[in-house]
Amino acid sequence: MKNKVKELLEQVEKFTSESIERVEEFRIKMLGKKGEITQLFEDFKTFTAEQKRETGKDLNELKTKTLDKINEFKDLLANTQAQTNNTFDMTMPATNEPLGSRHPISIMKNKIIDIFKRLGYTIAEGPEIEDDWHVFSALNFPPEHPARDMQDTFFIETNPDILLRTHTSSIQVRAMEQTKPPIRIICPGRVFRNEAISARSHCIFHQIEGLYIDENVSFADMKQTLLYFAQEMFGKDTQIRLRPSYFPFTEPSAEMDVSCKICGGKGCNICKGTGWLEIMGCGMVDPNVLENNGIDSKKYTGFAFGMGIERTSMLKWQTKDLRLYFENDIRFLRQFSAVV
Ligand code: PHE
Repeated sequence: MKNKVKELLEQVEKFTSESIERVEEFRIKMLGKKGEITQLFEDFKTFTAEQKRETGKDLNELKTKTLDKINEFKDLLANTQAQTNNTFDMTMPATNEPLGSRHPISIMKNKIIDIFKRLGYTIAEGPEIEDDWHVFSALNFPPEHPARDMQDTFFIETNPDILLRTHTSSIQVRAMEQTKPPIRIICPGRVFRNEAISARSHCIFHQIEGLYIDENVSFADMKQTLLYFAQEMFGKDTQIRLRPSYFPFTEPSAEMDVSCKICGGKGCNICKGTGWLEIMGCGMVDPNVLENNGIDSKKYTGFAFGMGIERTSMLKWQTKDLRLYFENDIRFLRQFSAVV
């Protein structure tokens, strides 16, 4: 028995093969029903306890080594076979790597910027973490104004002077501090408000605000600028309507509506039967704001406006739920791949 085990072990160690069939033959020869190793195990059963003790270990070792060898060659040959079967077809058309597309918020931001660039506006940016002065005080917010309230604004707990900007008007303050009129800027950016997330509002969203300060800037200039914007954005036949409103930093202030594209002004469920859709706030810069920022309000006047990028996108592309812009569901984003 001992010699037989030794002899078979040598055979196993020497075994090599280039074909999977030869490996299978070898397996049957050794471990098949009538295989040599199987036979040894049969003989083993008839051994005395002492004989078993002498040969058991070697016999088991022979079996595992044989199995290892067989598996090693099976794996090796299976791999090389897969490689040779997979011959490369040079005439096959290339598979296109799916390209990402711009996020709709970026697309809309660029569209708005493009329109105002044509009117000579330049882009200004500023920090998202701001102080009270740039977001509120310089903009003529009275100390008791509700927008300053904890319910609307995210303050830094340890220092209530530091907060996340609630509008990009803070950039306009920085621009007034740093440059002399004429100033003609648009300020895109992310803003933060402590609001519940719903189909119509989110605690993080994007705005673009504009500021134009020079000598003799009038309400009529503002109206014409915003009409131009609305028609470039929503189509040449778009009309605008200004409704009186209130902002601490503008006087007079207005809310601008655009005529509803869906029903052509007749009234539908998108415009809630009114024929108009609210799109932005605007107004003549309050003289206090100019003075707060070292600009002579007797010499200069200006107008400002501000719109939400999500809101404008929802109107333009008729999106029903604002949250879609934040969830980044590829099925939603893909629909914008053709929009530039
Ligand atoms: N800052 C205002 C807002 O966040 C928008 C606005 C800007 C209104 C400029 C008037 C003038 O709602």
